[in-house]
Amino acid sequence: MKTTEIIIVNPYQPEPSAIQKAAVMIKSGEVVAFPTETVYGLGADAFTAAAVEKIFQAKGRPAHDPLIVHIASVDQLLSVAANIPDFVQRLGNHFWPGPLTLVLQRNTALPANVTSDLDTVAVRVPDHAVALALINASQTAIAAPSANKFSGVSPTSAQHVLQDLNGRIPLILDGGSTTIGVESTVLDCTTWPPKVLRPGGITVEALRSFLGQVEVFQKGKGVLIPASSPGMLDKHYSPNARLYFFGSTKAEQYRPYFEETIELKLAAGEKVGAIIVSGDEPWLRNRFPSIEIISLGAESQLELVASHLYAALREMDARQVDCIFARDFGEAGVALAIRDRLIRAAFEVVRGNS
Ligand code: TXA
Ligand code: MG
Repeated sequence: MKTTEIIIVNPYQPEPSAIQKAAVMIKSGEVVAFPTETVYGLGADAFTAAAVEKIFQAKGRPAHDPLIVHIASVDQLLSVAANIPDFVQRLGNHFWPGPLTLVLQRNTALPANVTSDLDTVAVRVPDHAVALALINASQTAIAAPSANKFSGVSPTSAQHVLQDLNGRIPLILDGGSTTIGVESTVLDCTTWPPKVLRPGGITVEALRSFLGQVEVFQKGKGVLIPASSPGMLDKHYSPNARLYFFGSTKAEQYRPYFEETIELKLAAGEKVGAIIVSGDEPWLRNRFPSIEIISLGAESQLELVASHLYAALREMDARQVDCIFARDFGEAGVALAIRDRLIRAAFEVVRGNS
Protein backbone atom coordinates (compact mmCIF):
# COMPACT_ATOMS: atom_id res chain seq x y z
CA MET A 1 0.00 0.00 0.00
CA LYS A 2 1.42 3.37 -1.07
CA THR A 3 0.40 6.78 0.15
CA THR A 4 -1.18 8.73 -2.65
CA GLU A 5 0.00 12.33 -2.70
CA ILE A 6 -2.16 15.03 -4.26
CA ILE A 7 -0.56 18.21 -5.58
CA ILE A 8 -2.86 21.04 -6.60
CA VAL A 9 -1.77 22.69 -9.85
CA ASN A 10 -2.99 25.69 -11.79
CA PRO A 11 -4.73 24.12 -14.82
CA TYR A 12 -3.74 27.00 -17.13
CA GLN A 13 -0.24 27.79 -15.84
CA PRO A 14 0.96 24.76 -13.90
CA GLU A 15 3.62 25.42 -11.26
CA PRO A 16 7.00 24.21 -12.58
CA SER A 17 7.87 22.61 -9.23
CA ALA A 18 4.78 20.36 -9.38
CA ILE A 19 5.46 19.40 -12.99
CA GLN A 20 9.12 18.68 -12.20
CA LYS A 21 8.20 16.40 -9.32
CA ALA A 22 5.74 14.47 -11.50
CA ALA A 23 8.20 14.30 -14.42
CA VAL A 24 10.90 12.84 -12.18
CA MET A 25 8.46 10.11 -11.21
CA ILE A 26 7.55 9.38 -14.84
CA LYS A 27 11.25 9.22 -15.77
CA SER A 28 11.94 6.84 -12.91
CA GLY A 29 9.27 4.42 -14.17
CA GLU A 30 6.42 5.39 -11.83
CA VAL A 31 2.78 6.14 -12.66
CA VAL A 32 1.21 9.59 -12.17
CA ALA A 33 -2.44 10.66 -12.55
CA PHE A 34 -2.93 13.96 -14.36
CA PRO A 35 -5.77 16.02 -15.84
CA THR A 36 -6.55 16.27 -19.55
CA GLU A 37 -9.42 18.21 -21.14
CA THR A 38 -11.49 15.00 -21.35
CA VAL A 39 -10.92 12.89 -18.21
CA TYR A 40 -8.00 12.27 -15.83
CA GLY A 41 -5.35 9.91 -17.19
CA LEU A 42 -3.06 7.48 -15.39
CA GLY A 43 0.28 8.01 -17.10
CA ALA A 44 3.60 6.24 -17.43
CA ASP A 45 6.60 6.44 -19.78
CA ALA A 46 5.30 4.83 -22.98
CA PHE A 47 8.78 3.53 -23.86
CA THR A 48 9.32 1.58 -20.62
CA ALA A 49 7.47 -1.72 -20.50
CA ALA A 50 7.77 -2.09 -16.71
CA ALA A 51 6.30 1.39 -16.16
CA VAL A 52 3.43 0.64 -18.53
CA GLU A 53 2.79 -2.61 -16.68
CA LYS A 54 2.19 -0.60 -13.49
CA ILE A 55 -0.76 1.13 -15.19
CA PHE A 56 -2.45 -2.21 -15.87
CA GLN A 57 -1.74 -3.30 -12.28
CA ALA A 58 -3.07 -0.14 -10.63
CA LYS A 59 -6.29 -0.15 -12.69
CA GLY A 60 -6.88 -3.89 -12.69
CA ARG A 61 -7.03 -3.56 -16.47
CA PRO A 62 -6.69 -6.72 -18.60
CA ALA A 63 -3.57 -6.80 -20.78
CA HIS A 64 -5.62 -7.12 -23.98
CA ASP A 65 -7.03 -3.57 -23.70
CA PRO A 66 -4.53 -1.19 -25.40
CA LEU A 67 -3.59 2.25 -24.05
CA ILE A 68 -3.60 5.70 -25.64
CA VAL A 69 -0.16 7.28 -26.10
CA HIS A 70 -0.09 11.01 -25.35
CA ILE A 71 2.37 13.27 -27.16
CA ALA A 72 2.94 17.03 -26.91
CA SER A 73 2.73 17.93 -30.61
CA VAL A 74 2.32 16.56 -34.13
CA ASP A 75 6.11 16.67 -34.46
CA GLN A 76 6.38 13.83 -31.95
CA LEU A 77 4.18 11.49 -34.04
CA LEU A 78 7.07 9.76 -35.79
CA SER A 79 8.50 8.58 -32.47
CA VAL A 80 5.40 6.45 -31.77
CA ALA A 81 3.82 5.74 -35.19
CA ALA A 82 5.01 4.64 -38.62
CA ASN A 83 3.91 5.11 -42.26
CA ILE A 84 1.80 8.12 -41.36
CA PRO A 85 -0.66 8.96 -44.16
CA ASP A 86 -1.02 12.52 -45.38
CA PHE A 87 -4.55 12.95 -44.05
CA VAL A 88 -3.35 12.04 -40.55
CA GLN A 89 -0.83 14.86 -40.62
CA ARG A 90 -3.64 17.21 -41.64
CA LEU A 91 -5.96 15.86 -38.94
CA GLY A 92 -3.27 16.42 -36.33
CA ASN A 93 -2.57 19.95 -37.52
CA HIS A 94 -6.26 20.77 -37.39
CA PHE A 95 -7.65 18.99 -34.32
CA TRP A 96 -4.64 18.79 -31.98
CA PRO A 97 -4.29 19.60 -29.20
CA GLY A 98 -7.78 18.20 -28.69
CA PRO A 99 -10.02 15.23 -27.84
CA LEU A 100 -9.21 13.18 -30.95
CA THR A 101 -7.25 9.92 -30.76
CA LEU A 102 -5.85 8.51 -34.00
CA VAL A 103 -5.17 4.80 -34.48
CA LEU A 104 -2.07 4.42 -36.64
CA GLN A 105 0.55 1.87 -37.54
CA ARG A 106 2.75 1.37 -34.48
CA ASN A 107 6.39 2.34 -34.24
CA THR A 108 8.19 -0.80 -33.12
CA ALA A 109 10.25 1.26 -30.66
CA LEU A 110 7.17 1.14 -28.39
CA PRO A 111 7.02 -1.82 -26.03
CA ALA A 112 4.36 -4.36 -27.00
CA ASN A 113 2.31 -4.02 -23.80
CA VAL A 114 1.32 -0.40 -24.61
CA THR A 115 -0.64 -1.59 -27.62
CA SER A 116 -1.55 -5.04 -26.27
CA ASP A 117 0.61 -6.63 -28.98
CA LEU A 118 -1.33 -4.93 -31.79
CA ASP A 119 0.44 -3.56 -34.87
CA THR A 120 -1.40 -0.30 -34.32
CA VAL A 121 -1.11 2.45 -31.73
CA ALA A 122 -3.65 5.01 -30.51
CA VAL A 123 -2.18 8.53 -30.21
CA ARG A 124 -3.36 11.97 -29.18
CA VAL A 125 -2.19 15.45 -28.14
CA PRO A 126 -4.27 16.47 -25.10
CA ASP A 127 -5.53 20.06 -24.88
CA HIS A 128 -4.50 20.72 -21.30
CA ALA A 129 -1.55 22.78 -20.05
CA VAL A 130 -0.79 20.33 -17.22
CA ALA A 131 -0.74 17.28 -19.51
CA LEU A 132 1.40 19.06 -22.12
CA ALA A 133 3.86 20.39 -19.51
CA LEU A 134 4.16 16.91 -18.01
CA ILE A 135 4.88 15.27 -21.38
CA ASN A 136 7.46 17.93 -22.24
CA ALA A 137 9.20 17.81 -18.86
CA SER A 138 9.29 14.00 -18.96
CA GLN A 139 10.92 14.12 -22.42
CA THR A 140 8.97 11.10 -23.58
CA ALA A 141 5.50 10.03 -24.74
CA ILE A 142 3.07 9.16 -21.94
CA ALA A 143 0.84 6.11 -22.17
CA ALA A 144 -2.36 6.81 -20.24
CA PRO A 145 -5.80 5.26 -19.99
CA SER A 146 -8.50 6.93 -17.93
CA ALA A 147 -7.46 6.94 -14.25
CA ASN A 148 -10.32 4.83 -12.90
CA LYS A 149 -10.67 1.22 -11.82
CA PHE A 150 -11.21 -1.01 -14.84
CA SER A 151 -14.84 -1.01 -16.09
CA GLY A 152 -15.83 1.81 -13.74
CA VAL A 153 -16.81 5.40 -14.44
CA SER A 154 -14.00 7.61 -15.80
CA PRO A 155 -12.73 10.34 -13.44
CA THR A 156 -13.41 14.00 -14.19
CA SER A 157 -11.79 15.28 -10.97
CA ALA A 158 -8.83 14.41 -8.76
CA GLN A 159 -11.28 13.30 -6.06
CA HIS A 160 -12.70 10.72 -8.46
CA VAL A 161 -9.19 9.38 -9.09
CA LEU A 162 -8.57 9.18 -5.36
CA GLN A 163 -11.85 7.30 -4.82
CA ASP A 164 -10.70 4.60 -7.23
CA LEU A 165 -6.92 4.47 -6.88
CA ASN A 166 -6.07 5.70 -3.36
CA GLY A 167 -3.08 3.71 -2.09
CA ARG A 168 -2.47 2.20 -5.55
CA ILE A 169 -0.61 5.12 -7.16
CA PRO A 170 1.96 7.57 -5.73
CA LEU A 171 0.79 10.91 -7.14
CA ILE A 172 -2.21 12.82 -8.52
CA LEU A 173 -1.82 16.24 -10.11
CA ASP A 174 -5.06 18.02 -9.21
CA GLY A 175 -5.96 20.55 -11.88
CA GLY A 176 -9.65 20.76 -10.96
CA SER A 177 -12.57 19.39 -12.96
CA THR A 178 -12.03 18.49 -16.60
CA THR A 179 -13.93 20.57 -19.16
CA ILE A 180 -15.08 18.10 -21.86
CA GLY A 181 -15.95 15.34 -19.39
CA VAL A 182 -16.22 12.44 -21.86
CA GLU A 183 -13.24 10.70 -23.45
CA SER A 184 -11.65 11.49 -26.78
CA THR A 185 -13.06 10.30 -30.09
CA VAL A 186 -11.07 7.28 -31.29
CA LEU A 187 -10.60 7.31 -35.07
CA ASP A 188 -9.06 4.33 -36.87
CA CYS A 189 -6.84 5.83 -39.58
CA THR A 190 -5.42 2.55 -40.84
CA THR A 191 -8.19 2.34 -43.46
CA TRP A 192 -9.89 4.74 -45.85
CA PRO A 193 -12.36 6.09 -45.09
CA PRO A 194 -11.26 6.29 -41.47
CA LYS A 195 -13.64 4.85 -38.92
CA VAL A 196 -14.82 6.20 -35.57
CA LEU A 197 -14.32 3.38 -33.04
CA ARG A 198 -15.49 5.40 -30.05
CA PRO A 199 -17.50 8.63 -30.30
CA GLY A 200 -16.18 11.37 -28.05
CA GLY A 201 -15.15 14.99 -27.67
CA ILE A 202 -14.67 15.68 -31.41
CA THR A 203 -17.95 15.15 -33.22
CA VAL A 204 -18.50 12.90 -36.24
CA GLU A 205 -19.89 15.95 -38.04
CA ALA A 206 -16.64 17.88 -37.51
CA LEU A 207 -14.59 14.94 -38.80
CA ARG A 208 -16.87 14.50 -41.84
CA SER A 209 -16.71 18.13 -42.78
CA PHE A 210 -12.91 18.06 -42.53
CA LEU A 211 -12.27 14.69 -44.24
CA GLY A 212 -15.31 14.32 -46.47
CA GLN A 213 -15.84 10.68 -45.55
CA VAL A 214 -15.92 9.01 -42.14
CA GLU A 215 -17.47 5.73 -41.06
CA VAL A 216 -18.88 5.09 -37.62
CA PHE A 217 -18.45 1.69 -36.05
CA GLN A 218 -21.64 0.38 -34.51
CA LYS A 219 -22.14 -2.93 -32.86
CA GLY A 220 -24.68 -5.07 -34.68
CA LYS A 221 -27.16 -3.20 -36.88
CA GLY A 222 -28.08 -0.31 -34.68
CA VAL A 223 -26.56 1.39 -31.67
CA LEU A 224 -29.47 0.36 -29.49
CA ILE A 225 -29.71 -3.26 -28.53
CA PRO A 226 -32.87 -5.15 -27.52
CA ALA A 227 -34.15 -5.13 -23.97
CA SER A 228 -34.03 -8.90 -23.71
CA SER A 229 -30.49 -9.06 -22.33
CA PRO A 230 -30.35 -7.15 -19.05
CA GLY A 231 -27.02 -7.50 -17.32
CA MET A 232 -25.48 -9.08 -20.41
CA LEU A 233 -23.99 -5.91 -21.86
CA ASP A 234 -20.23 -5.27 -21.93
CA LYS A 235 -19.64 -3.77 -18.51
CA HIS A 236 -17.74 -0.54 -19.00
CA TYR A 237 -18.11 3.00 -17.74
CA SER A 238 -20.48 1.50 -15.17
CA PRO A 239 -21.68 2.74 -11.79
CA ASN A 240 -22.54 0.19 -9.08
CA ALA A 241 -26.25 0.92 -9.40
CA ARG A 242 -28.19 -0.72 -12.22
CA LEU A 243 -28.68 1.84 -14.98
CA TYR A 244 -31.86 1.64 -17.08
CA PHE A 245 -31.40 3.47 -20.35
CA PHE A 246 -34.46 4.33 -22.40
CA GLY A 247 -33.57 4.83 -26.06
CA SER A 248 -35.83 7.67 -27.12
CA THR A 249 -35.73 11.45 -27.16
CA LYS A 250 -39.53 11.69 -27.27
CA ALA A 251 -41.26 12.71 -24.03
CA GLU A 252 -44.44 10.84 -24.99
CA GLN A 253 -42.31 7.67 -25.08
CA TYR A 254 -39.83 7.99 -22.23
CA ARG A 255 -42.16 9.63 -19.71
CA PRO A 256 -44.65 6.73 -19.51
CA TYR A 257 -41.71 4.30 -19.33
CA PHE A 258 -40.07 6.24 -16.49
CA GLU A 259 -43.36 6.56 -14.61
CA GLU A 260 -44.32 2.89 -14.86
CA THR A 261 -40.89 1.46 -14.21
CA ILE A 262 -39.99 3.79 -11.34
CA GLU A 263 -43.36 2.95 -9.76
CA LEU A 264 -42.45 -0.75 -9.90
CA LYS A 265 -38.98 -0.19 -8.43
CA LEU A 266 -40.39 1.88 -5.57
CA ALA A 267 -43.02 -0.78 -4.88
CA ALA A 268 -40.17 -3.32 -4.66
CA GLY A 269 -38.52 -1.16 -2.01
CA GLU A 270 -35.65 0.07 -4.17
CA LYS A 271 -33.93 3.42 -3.84
CA VAL A 272 -34.35 5.12 -7.21
CA GLY A 273 -32.25 7.75 -8.99
CA ALA A 274 -32.77 9.61 -12.26
CA ILE A 275 -30.18 11.49 -14.32
CA ILE A 276 -32.07 13.96 -16.49
CA VAL A 277 -31.95 17.39 -18.12
CA SER A 278 -33.59 20.52 -16.74
CA GLY A 279 -36.61 20.35 -19.06
CA ASP A 280 -37.67 17.07 -17.42
CA GLU A 281 -37.12 18.27 -13.87
CA PRO A 282 -40.53 19.81 -13.03
CA TRP A 283 -42.37 16.75 -14.38
CA LEU A 284 -40.24 14.16 -12.58
CA ARG A 285 -39.94 15.99 -9.23
CA ASN A 286 -43.67 16.56 -9.19
CA ARG A 287 -44.38 12.92 -10.07
CA PHE A 288 -41.79 11.38 -7.68
CA PRO A 289 -40.86 13.91 -4.97
CA SER A 290 -38.78 11.42 -2.98
CA ILE A 291 -36.42 9.93 -5.58
CA GLU A 292 -32.83 11.11 -6.16
CA ILE A 293 -32.78 13.41 -9.18
CA ILE A 294 -29.70 14.98 -10.79
CA SER A 295 -30.18 17.43 -13.63
CA LEU A 296 -27.20 17.74 -15.97
CA GLY A 297 -28.34 21.06 -17.44
CA ALA A 298 -30.34 22.15 -20.45
CA GLU A 299 -30.87 19.79 -23.39
CA SER A 300 -29.97 22.72 -25.65
CA GLN A 301 -26.43 22.66 -24.18
CA LEU A 302 -25.38 19.04 -24.53
CA GLU A 303 -21.66 19.86 -24.13
CA LEU A 304 -22.46 20.87 -20.55
CA VAL A 305 -24.66 17.80 -20.10
CA ALA A 306 -21.74 15.61 -21.23
CA SER A 307 -19.28 17.36 -18.92
CA HIS A 308 -21.50 16.62 -15.88
CA LEU A 309 -22.41 13.03 -16.77
CA TYR A 310 -19.63 11.06 -15.02
CA ALA A 311 -19.79 13.11 -11.82
CA ALA A 312 -23.55 12.42 -11.72
CA LEU A 313 -23.06 8.64 -12.13
CA ARG A 314 -20.57 8.68 -9.25
CA GLU A 315 -22.86 10.88 -7.15
CA MET A 316 -25.70 8.37 -7.60
CA ASP A 317 -23.43 5.65 -6.18
CA ALA A 318 -22.52 7.97 -3.29
CA ARG A 319 -26.26 8.37 -2.60
CA GLN A 320 -26.49 4.57 -2.65
CA VAL A 321 -29.35 4.23 -5.10
CA ASP A 322 -30.22 0.75 -6.36
CA CYS A 323 -31.13 1.85 -9.86
CA ILE A 324 -30.69 4.87 -12.11
CA PHE A 325 -32.95 5.97 -14.96
CA ALA A 326 -31.67 7.91 -17.97
CA ARG A 327 -32.80 8.46 -21.55
CA ASP A 328 -31.38 9.21 -24.98
CA PHE A 329 -30.53 12.65 -26.39
CA GLY A 330 -30.20 11.57 -30.03
CA GLU A 331 -27.01 11.34 -32.06
CA ALA A 332 -26.20 14.86 -33.25
CA GLY A 333 -22.87 16.27 -32.08
CA VAL A 334 -21.80 15.18 -28.61
CA ALA A 335 -25.14 13.39 -28.06
CA LEU A 336 -23.64 10.35 -29.80
CA ALA A 337 -20.88 10.12 -27.17
CA ILE A 338 -23.42 10.53 -24.36
CA ARG A 339 -25.53 7.72 -25.85
CA ASP A 340 -22.50 5.48 -26.26
CA ARG A 341 -21.43 5.94 -22.61
CA LEU A 342 -24.95 5.52 -21.21
CA ILE A 343 -25.43 2.31 -23.18
CA ARG A 344 -22.09 0.95 -22.01
CA ALA A 345 -22.93 1.92 -18.43
CA ALA A 346 -26.37 0.34 -18.70
CA PHE A 347 -27.70 -2.76 -16.99
CA GLU A 348 -30.67 -2.67 -19.33
CA VAL A 349 -31.28 -0.81 -22.57
CA VAL A 350 -34.89 -0.35 -23.59
CA ARG A 351 -35.44 0.45 -27.22
CA GLY A 352 -37.73 3.36 -28.03
CA ASN A 353 -39.21 3.96 -31.46
CA SER A 354 -36.70 6.69 -32.27
O1 TXA B 1 -9.87 11.08 -23.54
C1 TXA B 1 -9.25 10.03 -23.53
O2 TXA B 1 -9.09 9.33 -24.54
C2 TXA B 1 -8.65 9.57 -22.18
C3 TXA B 1 -7.58 10.56 -21.77
C4 TXA B 1 -6.85 10.15 -20.52
O3 TXA B 1 -6.71 10.79 -22.82
N1 TXA B 1 -8.12 8.25 -22.27
C5 TXA B 1 -8.89 7.16 -22.40
O4 TXA B 1 -8.18 5.98 -22.39
O5 TXA B 1 -10.10 7.21 -22.46
P1 TXA B 1 -8.87 4.55 -22.24
O6 TXA B 1 -7.75 3.59 -22.10
O7 TXA B 1 -9.86 4.57 -21.16
O8 TXA B 1 -9.52 4.28 -23.63
C6 TXA B 1 -8.70 3.98 -24.73
C7 TXA B 1 -9.53 3.55 -25.88
C8 TXA B 1 -10.11 2.20 -25.67
O9 TXA B 1 -11.43 2.17 -26.19
C9 TXA B 1 -9.16 1.32 -26.49
O10 TXA B 1 -9.78 0.14 -26.92
C10 TXA B 1 -8.84 2.24 -27.66
O11 TXA B 1 -8.73 3.51 -27.07
N2 TXA B 1 -7.56 1.89 -28.28
C11 TXA B 1 -6.32 2.01 -27.78
N3 TXA B 1 -5.40 1.53 -28.63
C12 TXA B 1 -6.07 1.09 -29.72
C13 TXA B 1 -5.67 0.47 -30.95
N4 TXA B 1 -4.41 0.24 -31.24
N5 TXA B 1 -6.65 0.15 -31.82
C14 TXA B 1 -7.94 0.40 -31.54
N6 TXA B 1 -8.38 0.97 -30.39
C15 TXA B 1 -7.45 1.31 -29.49
MG1 MG C 1 -11.24 4.15 -19.80
